[in-house]
Amino acid sequence: KKVVLAYSGGLDTSAIIPWLKENYDDCEVIAFCADVGQGEVELEGIKEKAMASGASECHVVDLKQEFIANYIFPSIKTGAVYEGQYLLGTSLARPIIAKAHVEVALKVGADAVCHGCTGKGNDQVRFESCFAALAPHLTIIAPWREWDMVSRQDLLKYLATRDIPCSASLTKIYSRDANLWHISHEGGELEDPWCEPSKAVWTMTTAPENAPNTSEKIQLSFIKGELIAVDNQQLPANKLLDYLNTKAGQHGVGRVDIVENRLVGMKSRGCYETPGGTVLMAAYKGLESLILDKESLKFRESVGLEFSHVLYDGRWFTPLSKALLAAAASFAEKITGEVVVKLYKGQATVIQRSSPNSLYSEEFATFGADDVYDQKHAEGFIRLFSLPSRIEALQKNQLGEQ
Ligand code: ARG
Ligand code: SIN
Repeated sequence: KKVVLAYSGGLDTSAIIPWLKENYDDCEVIAFCADVGQGEVELEGIKEKAMASGASECHVVDLKQEFIANYIFPSIKTGAVYEGQYLLGTSLARPIIAKAHVEVALKVGADAVCHGCTGKGNDQVRFESCFAALAPHLTIIAPWREWDMVSRQDLLKYLATRDIPCSASLTKIYSRDANLWHISHEGGELEDPWCEPSKAVWTMTTAPENAPNTSEKIQLSFIKGELIAVDNQQLPANKLLDYLNTKAGQHGVGRVDIVENRLVGMKSRGCYETPGGTVLMAAYKGLESLILDKESLKFRESVGLEFSHVLYDGRWFTPLSKALLAAAASFAEKITGEVVVKLYKGQATVIQRSSPNSLYSEEFATFGADDVYDQKHAEGFIRLFSLPSRIEALQKNQLGEQ
């Protein structure tokens, strides 16, 4: 028997390795680690760590480019933002991690896949829904739903009695999830929604009150919905995102502190930092406002709302997801142009936009004379547009209603 475990190098997944071997017939455990830009601190020495905990192999897969090109950018085009605020950084990473996980499992001929998500969160649903769509024959093992351990102390004791080295500390205040797009923070004092997040929570952004007193402008260039340059520098997508993250982070842009509805039913409080993503989304929507007509924009907004739930709920590999992404990609064909965003004390404000596909015309919008709009026509338009109201009012009068 072979199990491929999604391994992070942290305490939980380190304990899962010996636990699997003891509880699943001496199975062979193969560690899989996805590099989605969570940073060197988490990835350093991860292979050695996995082997020291008892894994027979450790596969580290670099997913950074694919993450941006095939998950982040296509999702930006849908405009998806969960419950009006969360830019879905964790949700977005789940399908690509699950896909790479399955690929390793198929390559090594594994019977099962295993993850370290708790039984109370969204992530278990996301990973397992992706496994179901991609490799329904694989058995799924979720130790947190099986074992009796509940605390870090339990896990440390478990490793110590097996002489497995572990540098994890007894206390870890926050549950965090980082990638090149964002970092999330949950737990600790954040579990009290009346408690303001302490300074120790935030890691990617400067506090807006400590951000520079002078604003900074940043210019984003798009071709067919794809970000191709920032401040006129054409760089690979990951470098563009790094640049946006650095600039926006310095100005305290992209912090969110919310109470959200989890898929499994309970509410949870989370703090998120998505500095570059916040600027990118604002710029994209700024450009859309110039290009999409009223009905298109209304529909694109409904695509974004729907897709935010598809993403949050882990339904990436579904026909609905494919259809929504296709609709967004179709609108994106026209999204070409330049946007300038001003960064200042936590705010990212679109201040300039231009596009060869712009439908905005100063000539038509002006209150002066023009060729396409005769103000006399408005009378008939309004008369018919408001006809239902007129009819209803007349009928009420006949019936003597108010
Ligand atoms: N609540 C967020 C979400 O569902 C963040 C989850 C963070 N996950 C984690 N394993 N720390 O997308
Ligand atoms: C977890 O429970 O593993 C993390 C939080 C979440 O998935 O929502």
